[in-house]
Amino acid sequence: MTTTPDFSLPVPSQADQTKSLQLIEHLHARMSAAPLSFAEYMREVLYHPTWGYYSSGQVQFGVGGDFVTAPERSPLFTLGLVYEWQQAQKAGLGSDVCELGAGSGQLALDFLRACALRDCLPHRYWILEISPELRARQHTRIQAELPMELAARVQWIDRAADVSNRQISPQIPTWAGGLVIANEVLDAMPAVRFRWRPGVLSTVQELKVDVQGARFAWVAQPVSPPLRAALNDFAGRWPTEDLPDEPVAAEINLALPVWLTEMQAAFGHAQAPSWFYLFDYGGNTAEVYRPDRTDGTLRCHYRHRAHNDPFVYPGLQDITTWVDFETLARRATAAGFHVDGERSQAAWLLGTDVPAQFSTLMAQMMNEGSDRAMVAKLAQGFKELVMPTEMGERFRVLRLTLPAHDHP
Ligand SMILES: C[S@@+](CC[C@H](N)C(=O)[O-])C[C@H]1O[C@@H](n2cnc3c(N)ncnc32)[C@H](O)[C@@H]1O
Repeated sequence: MTTTPDFSLPVPSQADQTKSLQLIEHLHARMSAAPLSFAEYMREVLYHPTWGYYSSGQVQFGVGGDFVTAPERSPLFTLGLVYEWQQAQKAGLGSDVCELGAGSGQLALDFLRACALRDCLPHRYWILEISPELRARQHTRIQAELPMELAARVQWIDRAADVSNRQISPQIPTWAGGLVIANEVLDAMPAVRFRWRPGVLSTVQELKVDVQGARFAWVAQPVSPPLRAALNDFAGRWPTEDLPDEPVAAEINLALPVWLTEMQAAFGHAQAPSWFYLFDYGGNTAEVYRPDRTDGTLRCHYRHRAHNDPFVYPGLQDITTWVDFETLARRATAAGFHVDGERSQAAWLLGTDVPAQFSTLMAQMMNEGSDRAMVAKLAQGFKELVMPTEMGERFRVLRLTLPAHDHP
């Protein structure tokens, strides 16, 4: 199974091609022993310390980059989280915020600026970022763009356990409870790929990656025990009618239970309650594994072109897969979280004070005769966050709480 190279994509610079070729050589060496699972391939092309997309300085966020996330699209998204933060404060939660996978640092900047204006600054704004290059980028930006008093509240860590590890740095207080935010982090985690007639375990084959001629290609392999166990978890719920005759491709993040357990262990203090907001694109199990999604949910982004070929430009493009929020919620419960509910990004944002803030801001800008382009940008940003045809429906948010008890 080889895929045809996509000639509509922009051609990378010579330097980028050289970087990608070095990663390809490294991957060839790894595949000389055996094909790689797609999760291993994804980990290499996204997070290899030297050539990975998120580690090498390749990723560019925002309008001029490969893709635009919600906090890059409009500060109104972050204002929705500031509203949640204020609700958390009213509910007596702790004084900290932790952002997982902070990308360009945009959300952190907007969050802290808005909190300063509303007099509700978190004591500490933790950033858990696995890419050292992005950590450095976020640090530079936050130091340059925030007043010292705000910048000093930001603390970087590279594993969740460090929020509570006094031995790492005795002068840093441990996690005090509060808000944990992750936007488009789960979709960037390595996922295994397989094909099956949905719900029929006897048809499952794992799709691994191997070298064929000059290109990488999918190779069908017997299903591994962890993949079989994970599919077994929801295959029984599958409707048995109207199954396609041909197997379809799909993806699954097998590391999710371990990740959730780590999060629970790090943030689950009885005396320091936390609310988690996990945003991503995806849906319930039936939606993500819909039989007519013959090529799964794998999506690659290169300079604002979205396509389905993860073997193009290794290390230069982003690779994502959809989040199955139903399974995520079940796994979260098993890991000790309370699942508070899942909704679309539009339903979430419209339930905060952001629509009112948006109207006030628009009226203010009109009255003050603000630049029309700025007014249009604000309106466009709001529309893109909530419209069903834009990010409003495809993007979902799951709210989890720790410790696992109900809250208002
Ligand atoms: C698609 S970007 C999203 C960036 C940002 N949240 C935004 O919305 O613009 C994914 C981010 O998650 C980070 N990341 C991936 N896996 C992670 C993990 N297990 N823990 C923390 N950060 C992670 C990446 O390095 C990157 O910063």
